Amino acid sequence: MSALTIENLDICYGESKVTHDINLSVAEGESFALVGESGSGKTTVLRAIAGIATSWTGSITAFGQARSPGIDRGFARQCQMVFQDPYGSLHPRKTVDATLSEPLAIHGIADNGERVDEVMQSVGLDRRFRFRFPHQLSGGQRQRVAIARALILRPKLLLLDEPTSALDVSVQAEILNLLKRLRREQGLTYLMVTHNLAVVSFLCDRLAVMRHGRIVEVASADQLKRGALEDPYSRELIQFSPSHPA
Ligand SMILES: Nc1ncnc2c1ncn2[C@@H]1O[C@H](COP(=O)(O)OP(=O)(O)O)[C@@H](O)[C@H]1O
Ligand SMILES: [Mg+2]
Repeated sequence: MSALTIENLDICYGESKVTHDINLSVAEGESFALVGESGSGKTTVLRAIAGIATSWTGSITAFGQARSPGIDRGFARQCQMVFQDPYGSLHPRKTVDATLSEPLAIHGIADNGERVDEVMQSVGLDRRFRFRFPHQLSGGQRQRVAIARALILRPKLLLLDEPTSALDVSVQAEILNLLKRLRREQGLTYLMVTHNLAVVSFLCDRLAVMRHGRIVEVASADQLKRGALEDPYSRELIQFSPSHPA
């Protein structure tokens, strides 16, 4: 089954159209990357899927369920987003416990705290952090909280927007390893934005190269490793990308 199918997706911010006729399909269990230069529309695609960018035409279907623009709780149970910046994405006055409990309350899921405990454990956050605030955590710990918040509803698809780019180089590998393990353990599907092709090689099966709001090429990670991308722009992008997952 396809985890995510996007057809003819055009997304607008006000009067300006940011993406043009995006088509892509991500298989269940697959890890799929969106790459491309800054401003090419990668984040915008994730925002439309997550229901944050609401002005679009075309279709977005996850696990056979089509979403309409805006809030869609049924869709949210299946699909959650992790934002680029763990500093900006966590509420500064909410404890880890409050942040992780909130989605459960919104979705009317009764829980006596066990699910929070369980998800903290799965992302490698020690119990002692449970009643701390974001400013009392390191960048890596905050991103673990953001990942835990995305996972607490037990979604099958995660949208990851440059999940390590705001972190110190020393903790980037930890978070990449965590994402790799979570996907394996929980059978998750990833759609991940990155500007780092080494991250694609490490974590993804396929990639789409975006430019000016369009997909110019879809290729396998294997093709990428062999330097066998076909589109001239894709080839240029590889040449200038860092070669380490940093
Ligand atoms: N909230 C917004 N309002 C208006 N324009 C936006 C907004 N967010 C992004 N854009 C514009 O949309 C385009 C694509 O941005 P984005 O999806 O963030 O690119 P990427 O993630 O590939 O760097 C850019 O031209 C950017 O300036
Ligand atoms: Mg972006």
